[in-house]
Amino acid sequence: MKRLIAKLGYLADLTPRETWRLAKGKLPFLPGHKGWTPDDLLNSAKHRHGIRFAELLLRQEAVAQRHMDWAPLDFEGQRVVEVGCGPLGGYGPLAIFRGAEQFESAEPEWEPGLFFSDSVRERYFRVMHADLVALYGARMDFDAFWRALREKMTVHKAGFDAAPIAGEADIVLSQSCLEHVFPLEGTVAKLADLQGRSTRFLHLVDFGNHYLGHSPFDGLYEQPPEVYIARRGKAINLARSSDVARLFEAKGIPAHVIPSRVVKDSYRGSIHSWWRERYDESDLFTQLALVAGPAV
Ligand SMILES: C[S@@+](CC[C@H](N)C(=O)[O-])C[C@H]1O[C@@H](n2cnc3c(N)ncnc32)[C@H](O)[C@@H]1O
Repeated sequence: MKRLIAKLGYLADLTPRETWRLAKGKLPFLPGHKGWTPDDLLNSAKHRHGIRFAELLLRQEAVAQRHMDWAPLDFEGQRVVEVGCGPLGGYGPLAIFRGAEQFESAEPEWEPGLFFSDSVRERYFRVMHADLVALYGARMDFDAFWRALREKMTVHKAGFDAAPIAGEADIVLSQSCLEHVFPLEGTVAKLADLQGRSTRFLHLVDFGNHYLGHSPFDGLYEQPPEVYIARRGKAINLARSSDVARLFEAKGIPAHVIPSRVVKDSYRGSIHSWWRERYDESDLFTQLALVAGPAV
C-alpha cells in the first residue's frame, strides 16, 4: 500500500510529456509520440519564451565571471555547436543574430518542418527578433534574420555522439542537456573531438529530479541509480557534478565546474548507502552547475 501511494505521488509529479513518455515505454500498444506541434510549443511557458536563451546566457556568464576571469562570448564569425538544442534551435537563433558564421546541433526531436513553419515564424521568431534587436542592436532586419537561420543552421535529428559534426568548433554550448544523454561518456568523447586549444564552452547541467516538487532531489537518492532508471526510464543519467568533472578531465578537456545552485535543506528523503559511499554532501545537493572553459 505504501509503495502504491509513493508510486501515485511520483506519477502526480510528472509533467504531461513525461507521463506520455513513461506510458509509451510501459505500454507499448500505445501509438508513438507524434512529435511537437506549433501549438504545443507556443503554449508552453518555457518554449514560447524565445528570448530565454539570451537571459540564460546573461545568467551563465554572470556566474562564470564570479568564479573566473570569464570574458563574454563573442559570436562574430564563429562556428557554434550546441548539444541538444531542443525543438526551437536553442542558442542557434541568438548566435546567428550575434554574427555566428555557422550553428550546428544534434537534437533527437528536431523537426525542420516545424522550426521553419509559417506559424512558428510569425508567432515566435518575430517576437524573438524584436527582443534580440532591443538587447543587441538592429544588426539585421527580420527577413535577413530568417534567411540567416535557413542558411547557417544545421541540426541533425540524432544523438550528439552519433551526429556527423566534426572538426574544431569555436564555441560549444548546452542547456540542461548533458544530464539527459545516454551514454554521457560518448557525448563527452565527442565534445573532446570538437575541442581545440581556444574552443570556449558553457554547459549548464541540471542534476535535480526535474519535477516541480518540493525539493529538486526528492526521489533521487532513496535507491541506487540503476533502480531509479529502471523505474523511470532513461530520462536522466544521474551523473553528479563530480562525475562530469572527472569525465571532462579524462577526455582531456580542461573545465571549470562551477556550482550555480545548491539546495540542501528541502530534501526530506533518506539517502541510500550507494550515494553516501560515493558522493559528499556538496556534490549530492548541487542542483545546477556550469561546466565552463577557457576564460577568454
Ligand atoms: C531538457 S531538454 C533541453 C532542450 C534545450 N536545450 C532547452 O533548454 O530548451 C533536453 C534535450 O536534450 C535532448 N537530448 C536527449 N538526448 C540527447 C542526445 N543524446 N544528444 C543530443 N540531445 C539529446 C532532448 O531531445 C531534449 O531536447
